Amino acid sequence: MLKGKKVVVYVTGGIAVYKAADLVRRLIKAGATVRVAMTKSATEFVTPLTFQILSKHHVYIDTFDEREGDKVSHIYLADWSDLAIVAPATANSLAKIANGIADNFVSTALLATTAPIFIVPTMNQHMLENAATIRNIQVLENDGHFIMEPDTGFLAEGYEGKGRFPDPSEIIDTIQGFLLNLEKNLPLKNQKVVITAGGTKERIDPVRYITNDSSGKMGYSLAVAARNLGAEVYLISTSKVLKTPYGVTLVSVETAEQMHQAVNAEFEKAAIVIMAAAVSDYRPSHISNKKIKKNEQEMVLRLVKNTDILATLGNQKKDQFLIGFAAETHNIQEYAKDKLIKKKADMIVANDVSKPNAGFNKDTNEVSIFMMDEEPIELTVNSKQAIAEEILAIALTKMKK
Ligand SMILES: Cc1cc2nc3c(=O)[nH]c(=O)nc-3n(C[C@H](O)[C@H](O)[C@H](O)COP(=O)(O)O)c2cc1C
Repeated sequence: MLKGKKVVVYVTGGIAVYKAADLVRRLIKAGATVRVAMTKSATEFVTPLTFQILSKHHVYIDTFDEREGDKVSHIYLADWSDLAIVAPATANSLAKIANGIADNFVSTALLATTAPIFIVPTMNQHMLENAATIRNIQVLENDGHFIMEPDTGFLAEGYEGKGRFPDPSEIIDTIQGFLLNLEKNLPLKNQKVVITAGGTKERIDPVRYITNDSSGKMGYSLAVAARNLGAEVYLISTSKVLKTPYGVTLVSVETAEQMHQAVNAEFEKAAIVIMAAAVSDYRPSHISNKKIKKNEQEMVLRLVKNTDILATLGNQKKDQFLIGFAAETHNIQEYAKDKLIKKKADMIVANDVSKPNAGFNKDTNEVSIFMMDEEPIELTVNSKQAIAEEILAIALTKMKK
């Protein structure tokens, strides 16, 4: 979404200015061309040189410092940009933007730009909760600007509170979602995609359960990839640690049974269903409501079979494109082909979880894609995000139009 975009980062004077340097770096890494403008106060915290080196361009600070003879810099920059990001946005600069004040380079260029404006307010909690700031944020929202929710945590003042600069990776994710909402011609626009993620937990007693090594990372990468194609994404997940990607609807579950119910509730209207979760095949036949105490030398745990969610969906499906995952340690091709037929899936993504760069809990993966009457497609080692994008790109070419 950011690839090829011309972005101006407007940096105003708060303690979090140093974090804006990382944001600029990440925007460039995501493929954007970045220019930076700073308020005088911002330059008190970090020198413009840092931003100049990162953006490989001089930093705009003074409205009257016209270095390019043939241009009026603040108008040129305002017209040049596809996106304006104000990060960090001080209470003072928020007030200026909300009221159309143009008394420095940043506020003047922001008044002149017709690009969408994305604002990251960052300040002390009491400043954030001040009636004037609340009023200004409301005005900015009413004017159609996007305001990102500040983080809660340890503030520079030495106490816990709301107003922190969010993690730059989270800001990038939110910007991607924000830009998507502005896009009209995305292949999965208005289509529902249901994705399961993580290993299910099958309770033995209140403190113990059966689970597996699945982290949910592959499912979350697929959710981002589907969202980036414009889909309305429902992520049915067991993870308690991964951050829900911006714009994705999270349905939290724990057991295979809960996952089955959650998928069923979303299945009928789905265009694509991706079962990336590692669902327990069995669960204890009885869940003790008290912690089981040790007494005997041996203990027998009786297990019963869980519903095979993928097979159930395969039998139910009409136009849904159904993708299953197969995590194996041996005979991958044989198991994957068998799964494709038996579960009536449209695609099986198989990975060898014994390989060093693939499978559970890793940030990379290496998969083989199986579809009926087709040769397997091998996707070599890559980030889970890149693999997720390739899986969806292949699915899109195979889906009924
Ligand atoms: C150490 C220090 C930290 C500050 N941090 C913030 C901040 O995080 N957010 C904020 O709104 N103002 C903060 N301020 C106050 C602003 O710098 C001040 O309001 C300034 O006028 C903002 O100017 P600008 O909006 O033109 O950048 C801080 C001031 C100091 C001295």
